[in-house]
Amino acid sequence: MIVGILKEIKVAEKRVSMTPAGVVTMVRNGHEVLVEKAAGEGAGYPDAEYVAAGATIIETPAEIYAKSEMVMHVKEPLASEYDMIREDQIVFTYLHLAADEPQTNALVKSKSIAIAYETIAKDNGSLPLLVPMSEVAGRMATQEAAKYIEMPQGGRGILLGGVTGVEPATVVVIGGGVVGVNAAKMACGLGAKVYILDMNLERLAYLDDIMPANCFPVMSDAVTLRKLVKEADVVIGAVLVAGAKAPKLLTRDMLKEMKDGSVIVDVAIDQGGCFETSKATTHDEPTFEVDGVIHYCVANMPGAVARTSTRALTNATLPYAVEIANKGWKQAMQDNKEIKLGANVVKGNITFKAVAEAFNLDYTPVDKFL
Ligand SMILES: NC(=O)c1ccc[n+]([C@@H]2O[C@H](COP(=O)([O-])OP(=O)(O)OC[C@H]3O[C@@H](n4cnc5c(N)ncnc54)[C@H](O)[C@@H]3O)[C@@H](O)[C@H]2O)c1
Repeated sequence: MIVGILKEIKVAEKRVSMTPAGVVTMVRNGHEVLVEKAAGEGAGYPDAEYVAAGATIIETPAEIYAKSEMVMHVKEPLASEYDMIREDQIVFTYLHLAADEPQTNALVKSKSIAIAYETIAKDNGSLPLLVPMSEVAGRMATQEAAKYIEMPQGGRGILLGGVTGVEPATVVVIGGGVVGVNAAKMACGLGAKVYILDMNLERLAYLDDIMPANCFPVMSDAVTLRKLVKEADVVIGAVLVAGAKAPKLLTRDMLKEMKDGSVIVDVAIDQGGCFETSKATTHDEPTFEVDGVIHYCVANMPGAVARTSTRALTNATLPYAVEIANKGWKQAMQDNKEIKLGANVVKGNITFKAVAEAFNLDYTPVDKFL
């Protein structure tokens, strides 16, 4: 199969959908890989590394779309690309269609095979192509908090781990899923006193087993949260309620009771945020202050560490991309139901229920095409 790797065109997006190491694997599997000029530059991979890996560099996205049987991106195709997508071409990337009607209509019109990273799911319901970015965001959340709590950044001037004779900072992580565990791990590693809150008792039991002694898994409720945020130097919001906006757990009146110069990081901002005072920010201006508390609310945190994120993403997407390229999309979906769950739009039909429902459009099960 001819696989095309497109350069990202979303503002400030430096990731790329395949590393040169990924190209080597694709080529070993007998496929031809076309890489758009400078696609990997932002993530630290010059064109020469792709050529050495066996790829061909292509000047324009139009040529990539014209020549490839499968195109890969990190972010969704933008309006400038809609007319380049060809009938029967596989588009494999994050799509997030339920929040994007113009793109949904464009993919329907194109009659392509649109497979979304974010809806590929394992039997236990986990989303293997979202996990790596949640890991990145979780680990980064603590790193950013450690930075912004320093005095030159306006913070209260606390070292998260303390030192001999000086107690460590208190970090409260709300949500004990992938983001929360990774944030807590980093904070524990630095030596902070960490509370991690979740509502799922089984999850709390698991956290109790695996987390180090300076981490205290606690049932999440409004009374406990109010008590803990008063003590906190850092609060990290990492909740997810599937298919819904994030609940506003840290309210304005709780915020008023927090210490001056403390830092709150709302990782759930991409789902509306779980702090009442959150509003989305960008890497150019990541923070703002309300009631003396520094808010960090960047909606695409992994973009700031594009080298790590690109490798983590390729590690997760490559096995699926190789299977699709080796077998073709129909056979790959017949053999692997995780890939089948990724089918969002197939030959002009919406094959993912939540997307059809979001826009009151007809839903067609993908089995009809297999
Ligand atoms: N800003 C970014 O760049 C970025 C990157 C990755 C993920 N995210 C977001 O981070 C959030 C968390 O993602 P995840 O992968 O960890 O999800 P996850 O499903 O693995 O974990 C979410 C956890 O929240 C818990 N939860 C739900 N309601 C709660 C409540 N009221 N109190 C305490 N815990 C509660 C759930 O039980 C679950 O354990 C999501 O909103 C996701 O979209 C943002």
